[in-house]
Amino acid sequence: MRIDVLTLFPEMIEAGVRVSLLGKAIQEGILEVAATNIRDFSADRHRTVDDAPYGGGAGMVMKCEPIYAAVESLRDRNSLERIILLSPSGRRLDQRLVRELASARDMVLLCARYEGVDERVRGDLCTDEISIGDYVLSGGEVAALAVIEAVGRMLPGVVGAWESVATDSFYDGLLGFPQYTRPPDFRGMGVPEVLVSGHHAAIERWRRKQALRFTIERRPDLLVNSTDADKALLVEIEREEAERKREMEQ
Ligand code: ADE
Repeated sequence: MRIDVLTLFPEMIEAGVRVSLLGKAIQEGILEVAATNIRDFSADRHRTVDDAPYGGGAGMVMKCEPIYAAVESLRDRNSLERIILLSPSGRRLDQRLVRELASARDMVLLCARYEGVDERVRGDLCTDEISIGDYVLSGGEVAALAVIEAVGRMLPGVVGAWESVATDSFYDGLLGFPQYTRPPDFRGMGVPEVLVSGHHAAIERWRRKQALRFTIERRPDLLVNSTDADKALLVEIEREEAERKREMEQ
């Protein structure tokens, strides 16, 4: 997959993708990330990329010309089928959208600064608009890195053990289950017996139940279309919870 990032701070993107899993995916040729400085496409000698808004008001707006020129410069390398603006007004990034993006051959991520981009960029040039959450960042770069990292780890070969992607929180719509590693006793805190039992089916069942327990406690909105097996576990969880409450009241 190829991802072109248009930004005023290419060094932020370059530093963010150089290390860890993404760095390795890039070295192995599974992922290509190129950051292009929008300022390089400014037509004037001051390398201006922003201007005051028509109608007045505070702040500056990113101009059309350098952004259109920067996108057009990618034409030979990128299909330009997905030109994604990072913005707090966009569609919220979730694992479903990540999976959808991971099936694309390439994409362009456009990082805005200042008060945003000219509407003729947002409405006419961009095909998508993505937000990483209901808060305002100073620019789209950190959001672009979040998209790149989430999409990158879905590409075959990036995460060594595919199983670890398949059991990620959200991969199958649930939060993750709790994990333990050695030592078996840490400051008096132990490890659930079942995990050291060597009984794989029991371990799988315990993990699924814990994932369901976490999800029902913290994000019940994620629990849709439960299987019959999950429904049975949920009944067990409910019964245990009622039991626990009864004990506490005594
Ligand atoms: N740019 C500024 N804030 C943002 C957010 N929450 N998501 C994506 N891009 C942004």
